Amino acid sequence: MTEPADTTTTPGARLLPGAPVAEAVLAETAAAAARLRERGVTPSLATILVGDDDASAGYIRIKQRQAAALGFASPHEHLPATTTQDELHRVIARFNADPAVHGILVQYPIPGHLDYDVALQTIDPDKDVDGMHPLNMGRLAVGLPGPLPCTPAGIEALLAHYEIPVAGREVVILGRGATLGRPLAMLLSQKRPTANAAVTVVHTGVPDWPRYTRRADILVAAAGVPGIVQPEHVRPGSVVIGAGVRYAGRRLLPDVDEACAEVAGAITPRVGGVGPTTVAMLFRNAIHAATRSTP
Ligand SMILES: NC(=O)c1ccc[n+]([C@@H]2O[C@H](COP(=O)([O-])OP(=O)(O)OC[C@H]3O[C@@H](n4cnc5c(N)ncnc54)[C@H](OP(=O)(O)O)[C@@H]3O)[C@@H](O)[C@H]2O)c1
Repeated sequence: MTEPADTTTTPGARLLPGAPVAEAVLAETAAAAARLRERGVTPSLATILVGDDDASAGYIRIKQRQAAALGFASPHEHLPATTTQDELHRVIARFNADPAVHGILVQYPIPGHLDYDVALQTIDPDKDVDGMHPLNMGRLAVGLPGPLPCTPAGIEALLAHYEIPVAGREVVILGRGATLGRPLAMLLSQKRPTANAAVTVVHTGVPDWPRYTRRADILVAAAGVPGIVQPEHVRPGSVVIGAGVRYAGRRLLPDVDEACAEVAGAITPRVGGVGPTTVAMLFRNAIHAATRSTP
């Protein structure tokens, strides 16, 4: 499992932990779940685990405990490591066809002989709680309602929770990956009070990317390169969100060097920043799916 959240204070920057944001989102989700149950509908988030990876099994248990605490049903299918792609698709199809299931999650990673992206594309887009189905990316691009990619949505929620103004400000995102940088750019450039930003995305094709990050009001590190963001890349007093991480065993190696806290005005902690908000967004996507499918 991951390291415990970092609750120490840094001398410079205000810390922006994810846990209070997640708690607020989960409290709203629990209230919405109670309203649905009063109407005879139990919200349901189905999970699929393939193989026997201990960490993945642990993540599933955390989600099932969370589901129970929120009053969700959480049907679960544990498939053997030898499962074929077709067998995985058959389980997804069964959950797709079940009107009592509102959200479906295939725990990542899955064994190497299986294609996760192909499996993801067989999930009913309306039940895609990760918000990563290509149709949901398209919905995000054109501003249609649908499940939002969890980490980008969690970052928007975190900024809103701490009342950090985003509208009209310059957000620079380091990384254009499909799970984080690219959908976050789409999300934060939408015309909404908690978005509406001037968004710049930089990547390996922009070798002088520090020129952009140094002028950012809000810098989001989404590269997955430990320590890539150093204090000299940060505008003094700005907001730094560290989303990119790599794991060395269980040790988490963040994109943002800890010394950035001496320059930034506000910063996510090394551990316990964006991560908790991502998990909360799974349940928010599931409750929205349940609400949308309830006449
Ligand atoms: N905290 C959470 O809950 C959470 C959730 C999801 C993902 N993540 C993390 O977020 C990170 C990004 O995820 P992803 O799936 O979007 O990753 P990805 O597809 O690998 O994208 C990484 C991006 O970073 C850019 N990049 C890498 N090295 C760079 C460098 N030296 N200079 C400039 N740009 C560089 C890449 O540029 P090119 O496009 O030019 O190659 C790419 O656009 C990962 O670390 C992942 O673990 C965290």
